[in-house]
Amino acid sequence: MKSYSVKNITWAMSAGLGILLVVIMNSCVESQKGAAKSGAQLWAENCQRCHNTPSPNSFSHDQWVTIGIHMQTRAQLNAKERNKMVGFLTQ
Ligand code: HEC
Repeated sequence: MKSYSVKNITWAMSAGLGILLVVIMNSCVESQKGAAKSGAQLWAENCQRCHNTPSPNSFSHDQWVTIGIHMQTRAQLNAKERNKMVGFLTQ
């Protein structure tokens, strides 16, 4: 009886560890997607496809917020990427 419950505990622990690993790995993949590129990188890589990359100090904070919303669709960025990029442009 004692060895049976030890086996059970071992099984439960490895199952738990397995689930934990899956959760950790998934959250890594998830955060890599969002955190892979900095605002500066997103700006440098996406904004000169169509025109010269405007420098951060060429527009005011409010202008950058509006431009960010406008150019997000053009550069096909998601909201998270746009926020990071606008954060870089307005820092
Ligand atoms: C698919 C092409 C394309 C991409 C990518 C793009 N833009 Fe633009 N951008 C345009 C066009 C076209 C205009 C002018 C017409 C307009 O405002 O829609 C413009 C206008 C602008 C203007 C206004 C310029 C001025 O002198 O008034 C700014 C600032 C700007 N873009 C910033 C950016 C930033 C920052 C990014 C990166 C997220 C970006 N753009 C990505 C096409 C693009």
